[in-house]
Amino acid sequence: MPHISVIPDVALTAAQRTEIRALLDAAFEGDFSDADADHAAGGIRVLATDGDTIIGHAALVGRQMQFNGVTVTVGYVEGVAVHPDRQGQRHGSVLMRMIDENAQKTYALTMLSTGVQEFYEKLGWVRFLGKSYVSENGQMVRTADEDAGLMVLAEHPSWNVAGCQIVCDWRIGDVW
Ligand SMILES: CC(C)(COP(=O)(O)OP(=O)(O)OC[C@H]1O[C@@H](n2cnc3c(N)ncnc32)[C@H](O)[C@@H]1OP(=O)(O)O)[C@@H](O)C(=O)NCCC(=O)NCCS
Repeated sequence: MPHISVIPDVALTAAQRTEIRALLDAAFEGDFSDADADHAAGGIRVLATDGDTIIGHAALVGRQMQFNGVTVTVGYVEGVAVHPDRQGQRHGSVLMRMIDENAQKTYALTMLSTGVQEFYEKLGWVRFLGKSYVSENGQMVRTADEDAGLMVLAEHPSWNVAGCQIVCDWRIGDVW
């Protein structure tokens, strides 16, 4: 079984960063940008390592958002990937369990954006029921296309009621 480790982003070596990026490029089949890589930085990294090889990665970062007008630091999950040769062997589930455990200790609300909702639903995540926005130059801009991909860690259902509003700060690349 791979070894699972939780590492502060600042503690990653340059070699680990290069290896993680190669893993993400392979898992996302080239659809992982430099901006996506930046979004995964600054919090913690969960790594699945087999021998000397990183075969799985997930990141948890803090993002300041406005939830129904109240400022809250949201735990945000980024860069979840298992190497294509090792997918379907529960490594992704193990990575996410470790992310969830850390998120529940640290954040009142944890979210992610995905196109593979079924994977996260099996782990107890629920689809976001509210309306998403981005704050751009002081304006709240609706990001309706993003709503369907947003998910909330199920431990915090009180944050997730139909009609609630969440506003993230603008960032380069995908804002959600
Ligand atoms: C998504 C990903 C991280 C899942 O990791 P994994 O180790 O292959 O998944 P697991 O073996 O832990 O799967 C657990 C369950 O989720 C399901 N599942 C896995 N990937 C899925 C997907 N892409 N869509 C729907 N269900 C999926 C599995 O079939 C399994 O279901 P079961 O419990 O009924 O058997 C991995 O396939 C991957 O890296 N994909 C490419 C990158 C990606 O899409 N990342 C997530 C973007 S937010």
